[in-house]
Formats: sequence, structure tokens, C-alpha cells
Amino acid sequence: MSNIYQIAIDGPSGSGKSTLAKGVSAKLGIMYLDTGAMYRTCGLAAIKAGIDPKNPEQVKELLDKTSVEVKFSEGQQHMILNGEDVTGFIRTGEVSMAASSVSAHPFVREAMVQMQRAIAADQSFVLDGRDIASKVLPDCKYKFFLTASSEKRAERRLKELEERGDKSQTYEDVLKDIIQRDKQDSERAASPLIKVADAIEINTDEIGIEETLETLLSYIKE
Ligand code: DC
Repeated sequence: MSNIYQIAIDGPSGSGKSTLAKGVSAKLGIMYLDTGAMYRTCGLAAIKAGIDPKNPEQVKELLDKTSVEVKFSEGQQHMILNGEDVTGFIRTGEVSMAASSVSAHPFVREAMVQMQRAIAADQSFVLDGRDIASKVLPDCKYKFFLTASSEKRAERRLKELEERGDKSQTYEDVLKDIIQRDKQDSERAASPLIKVADAIEINTDEIGIEETLETLLSYIKE
């Protein structure tokens, strides 16, 4: 029997998904796929081309002539846009909003989901995103859904930006963006952010990342 398995960690931005997915990946020695980075790369492509990420015709025309690839080097994920490594350029506030907008188009989602399934097919992976359990890998072995208040998530996002030396946004800016992205990500028609019935929900408001990681691992080891 194959011992390849997948772990889905879904939830809104700032709920702690990527930190936990990295922790799970390190503890279990499995690969980590950040699916948000893929939509971010599409968002960056739209910004670079100067088109409106909400406009389906413009985005479709652009993506037809754009190459988006995921590469792994020493276990680290790299995003390649038209042959250029853009991993260091996809974490800005502008890219976050563009990613949320392009990710609402069904043809963008179909292309990304197909890539995600192909990547996770031959090795054990932990994947984080919005639709991993609901769409990408509905039969995966472990499904987690993280939640936290918008305020807590804005605090974390701001800290993350500051740690990267980005002081361009205030707490209010970050909170406003989070609320707008939540709305876009959960109200879109194509694969909106939802918790599937068999996912384990963990609220990360009060518990620290270490404790949440232990909780998650305890479910996996069971
Ligand atoms: O997780 P993140 O903040 O890096 O994701 C960026 C955007 O991409 C987010 O606003 C919604 C979208 N996204 C998605 O629609 N589906 C996923 N599986 C991952 C991200």
C-alpha cells in the first residue's frame, strides 16, 4: 500500500496557515506547497502587465501567454513567472489584493488546481490555501480549517510585514485589506473559502503557534 498522504490546511489570510504548514512539514519530513503563492504570482503577472485583475477577459488573454511554474530547490518552493524567479516579490499588499481578485476567475482556479494536484501526486505534502479540502484534494487524509478574528490576523500580518522591513502599511490599512480579501475570497462563486464537514476546526486567537502545531500533530499521529 502506498504511504503517500496529504494534509490540507485551509483558512483565511493571517490565520496561521503557512507557519503551521511549515512546522508540520519540518516535523513530519514532508513537502510543503503554498498554493497562495501560485495565485500571488498570477496577481503579480496582472500588475506587471498593467491590466485590471478583476477583468476576466484581460486576465484570460494575459494568462494564455504567461508561464507560471512552481519549482522546489532544497525543499523550498520557488515561483517562476515567465522564467524569472519572483518568489521575493509576491508578498506586498498590492500583490495580495491582485491575487485575491485573479483567484476569483474560474479559469485561473482550474489551471492552478490542476498544477497543485500534479505536484502533490507522487510525494507526501502539506498544502495550505482556501480550497484544498473542498476542491483540490477532497479525499486527502487530514483536513484542518484555521480561524482567528480579523483583528488578530491583522496584528499578525502587520508583524510579518514589519519583520520584513516593510513599514508602508498601518494596522488600519492591513485590517481593511484583510476584511476586503475575506469578503472577496468567501463570496466568490468559484471555490469560495469554506470549511468542509469533515475538517477539524482550530481557532488560533488565544493559542500560540507552538500549541496549535502540537494540536495539529496530535490529530495526525492518532
Ligand atoms: O494565502 P495567501 O494570502 O497567500 O493567498 C493569496 C490569495 O490567493 C488569497 O486572497 C486568496 C487566493 N487563494 C485562493 O483563492 N485559493 C488558494 N488555495 C490559495 C489562495
